[in-house]
Amino acid sequence: MNPARSSFPGALSDPAYNAALRAFLRAYPAYDHTAVEALRAREYARLDASGHVYLDYTGGGLYAQSQLDEHLAMLRGGVYGNPHSNSPASRAATDLAECVRAQVLAYFNAAPDEYAAIFTQNASGALKLVGESYPFGPGDQYVLTFDNHNSVNGIREFARARGASVAYAPVLPPELRIDEGRLMALLEGARPGAHNLFAYPAQSNFSGVQHDLGWIARAQALGWDVLLDAAAFAPTNRLDLSRWHPDFVVLSFYKIFGYPTGIGCLIARQSTLPKLRRPWFAGGTITIASVQGDGYYLQDGEAAFEDGTIDYLNIPAVEIGLRHITSVGIDTIHARVMALTGWLIEQLGALTHSNGAPLVHFYGPAHTRQRGGTVTFNLFDPDGRLFDYREVEAAASHANISLRTGCFCNPGAGEQAHGLTREDLADCFGRQERMTFEEFIRIMSGRSKEAVGAVRVSLGIGSNFADVYRFVAFARTFLDRLH
Ligand SMILES: Cc1ncc(COP(=O)(O)O)c(C=O)c1O
Repeated sequence: MNPARSSFPGALSDPAYNAALRAFLRAYPAYDHTAVEALRAREYARLDASGHVYLDYTGGGLYAQSQLDEHLAMLRGGVYGNPHSNSPASRAATDLAECVRAQVLAYFNAAPDEYAAIFTQNASGALKLVGESYPFGPGDQYVLTFDNHNSVNGIREFARARGASVAYAPVLPPELRIDEGRLMALLEGARPGAHNLFAYPAQSNFSGVQHDLGWIARAQALGWDVLLDAAAFAPTNRLDLSRWHPDFVVLSFYKIFGYPTGIGCLIARQSTLPKLRRPWFAGGTITIASVQGDGYYLQDGEAAFEDGTIDYLNIPAVEIGLRHITSVGIDTIHARVMALTGWLIEQLGALTHSNGAPLVHFYGPAHTRQRGGTVTFNLFDPDGRLFDYREVEAAASHANISLRTGCFCNPGAGEQAHGLTREDLADCFGRQERMTFEEFIRIMSGRSKEAVGAVRVSLGIGSNFADVYRFVAFARTFLDRLH
């Protein structure tokens, strides 16, 4: 047995754990420990059964036991067929999918006459739909923030290929928030009559920073269509589309409730949707297409964007997942996650070696204001030398702790967090041959860039105090350890 499992410090008999829990509950009185433990025992018991500390909710959420039970019961009890016909089996699948579509809009408080919900494979699939269909051309612009997932960065390739210009608003260390002055200067440069697209994440998957949702209306008033990446925000925050009105919202459902994987959504404003021009047609997207007539007509609305057969057996599990989140309450989830995040940041920030040197350097805010439950950092030895994130990851895995390391598919935030400059990076991208991540790290080390990756821990619906307590205990094992 893994020794880390047998010495699980969350055991009720551990006096240090109990003292820490009491102090935590005094500091965070809104945290309902009894309710969290009941939810954990009822729905996420497999974590404790295997002594697993799961700290990668920004990578993927965890599913509740009841979601699986309900979905299996639904599959066992029905006959579902391909939705593209009129048989009873087909109707049953179509009716379910349409019902889920309505539930998705209702969950985000999006009026059906204002928004359409388009099922995609994941958030990246939704982003690709926007990127390939947005009518970029010469004179048009794509503005985005340094802090973005690669699937948002990737849209720049569609923009450039069609002659549009691309510009980035930088983030500022140490909190890694957007340089608002630079952003507003870019947004004020909207070209009248042109297509201007602005993309940013509601919450950073790198630093946990929450960016200002007020930028949506400001950018729109200046002439921009706004694409909001809600993939990292939606799992622990309420996104109310009756209050905020982005043109496009993208997300992946597995990040919110773990199961099913393979389904995401593009929630698009009905008034902006007609702007999008699909570059092809596919089964399911057309009313009619002809070989000899060499033509086709696209469907109206969502159907024009859902290529082929939708995932009709798994889409109903989205409604089950949304109902699970609603039964716990997204505001309750948010409050619990932020209490645990606050304690985690305080405890990690207070860890110092015997010589007084700090163990942890955070990338992002070292407090809980305007941030979510994603905390990114590196560990340093008493002489200030970095512990390679791969070493930390290996030790965490040994202790049965799942976390994420590297750059988290968010190179812009990482480059600015680690002080990598345009000159540093120019070296890497002028080559003929493909470069591996290992080679990249080697080149950066050669340029005296100590860190090119970091450690990320993130909390979610299944997290409890024992998880963060165990992680802090794990971090302590690096105290006074020389690199
Ligand atoms: C902020 C953000 N956007 C987009 C994505 C892409 O999501 P997916 O891999 O599900 O397409 C992620 C995934 O981590 C993310 O964190």
